[in-house]
Amino acid sequence: KKDEIILAIETSCDETAVAIVKNGTELLANIVASQIESHKRFGGVVPEVASRHHVEQITIVIDEALNKAELEPADLTAVAVTEGPGLVGALLIGVNAAKAFAFAHGLPLVPVHHIAGHIYANRLVKEMTFPLLSLIVSGGHTELVLMEEHGTFKVIGETRDDAAGEAYDKVARTLNMPYPGGPHIDKLAQEGEPNIDLPRAWLEPESLDFSFSGLKSAVINTVHNAAQRGEVIKPEDLAASFQASVVDVLVEKTYRAADQYKVKQVLLAGGVAANKGLRKALEERFKNTGYDLVIPPLHLCTDNAAMIAAAGSVAYQKGTRADMALNGVPGLDL
Ligand code: KG4
Ligand code: ZN
Repeated sequence: KKDEIILAIETSCDETAVAIVKNGTELLANIVASQIESHKRFGGVVPEVASRHHVEQITIVIDEALNKAELEPADLTAVAVTEGPGLVGALLIGVNAAKAFAFAHGLPLVPVHHIAGHIYANRLVKEMTFPLLSLIVSGGHTELVLMEEHGTFKVIGETRDDAAGEAYDKVARTLNMPYPGGPHIDKLAQEGEPNIDLPRAWLEPESLDFSFSGLKSAVINTVHNAAQRGEVIKPEDLAASFQASVVDVLVEKTYRAADQYKVKQVLLAGGVAANKGLRKALEERFKNTGYDLVIPPLHLCTDNAAMIAAAGSVAYQKGTRADMALNGVPGLDL
């Protein structure tokens, strides 16, 4: 049987990424050209700047991935690409590059949902067993997704306002830290004590939804009130307290959902999955509970194309195809 080799392209936000994956799980190349340095001085991702970088980088990164895997386009089975959600101008660069590449080399084109990609990053680590629950925490999303089988997604909980990563980035900005703030707060939190009282949004007793905007405001108020009273708050303690608030709710609701839906496996996904406090708390909560908890390595948590190839492989096997009319869809539903 011939090997299935998928080249995947991801340009939904500020990483120009191309990966090549063999038979759905074997990583042959995983190239990520980050634009973080260019966006830092603006304190966040500037869509126009992101699009321009993608245009400059995309063909270089495709070539780099093929070189790394020591493959020619003729060796490929299909091209997968992130269709959405994301920044429309950024998505379009990847979608158009994928269409041109697929057309030029006579390859099938497979559209992939960005969040499905984040979930499927886990398949590069371990075989998926259903039903499974995935906690997706990124800069744009905070969702609990139930999967009964490959390729079916049911959102059973989601944020009603800010995404977890967005809250991290906004709080980091208040503390004058560079973008993206998540990793900085995470590091600072390890050095502090969670001794500042901050709210936890449990919402209605049965709800699996999240809310982080109240917490974000509470942190900002705490900083301002302390400044007015001339008090000094240790940034380490504030970071640790904020992180404890976020992590407590994420972990507890994930456990509740796993219990309620009697899943076999629990997967962590998205950029905030790189958070050390969250990884540790999830491991502790799920220890000796019978659930198979899978936490991907850091480089598969933040945006990359390996995850798009992994999800693309399953979609390809299921017969999902796009034609040359494929468009980037900024608000694409899972
Ligand atoms: O998945 P991702 O790379 O891009 C989106 O699809 O949004 O996630 C980026 C988000 C940013 O908000 C960033 O601050 C956050 O992930 N992040 C972290 C950590 N590393 C990245 N948040 C908390 N702790 C971290 N260690
Ligand atoms: Zn992402």
